[in-house]
Amino acid sequence: MPIHRTLGALTLMLLGACGSEVEPLTFDTNVDAEAFASGEELYALHCAECHDDDGRGTSEGPDLTVRLETLSPAEVAAVVVQGDGRMNPVDVTNDEAFIVSLWVVEAFGPQAR
Ligand code: HEC
Repeated sequence: MPIHRTLGALTLMLLGACGSEVEPLTFDTNVDAEAFASGEELYALHCAECHDDDGRGTSEGPDLTVRLETLSPAEVAAVVVQGDGRMNPVDVTNDEAFIVSLWVVEAFGPQAR
């Protein structure tokens, strides 16, 4: 699978829980092919138990292929690091979160169909 996304440095500014604080969330977005390939393993380790091997979801987590219609890799990475609604933060580094998110968008996102 070719890697066609090198986004350069990227900083997401997200509102803190109380709305008064802005927490910068940064990821190393220079993901080479080897790092990208490790995304599959990260997914199997940290995500598949709830979102299933094919991303279609389980009773513990929703179908990602639907959610990924509108989420960018950086937005997915923010969900992984910070949690979202019923999903708790996942215990990975920011950089791992971005790698697995790039992989997930490639594997299960709109362009995979
Ligand atoms: C313990 C179960 C669990 C694990 C592990 C888990 N998730 Fe989730 N995930 C959920 C649940 C539940 C939701 C729905 C959250 C909600 O809408 O309240 C969710 C939602 C999401 C969403 C949609 C967010 C949105 O705004 O629509 C994405 C993307 C996602 N998860 C990606 C991942 C990735 C990538 C991993 C692995 C790094 C992961 N999840 C690990 C349970 C899990």
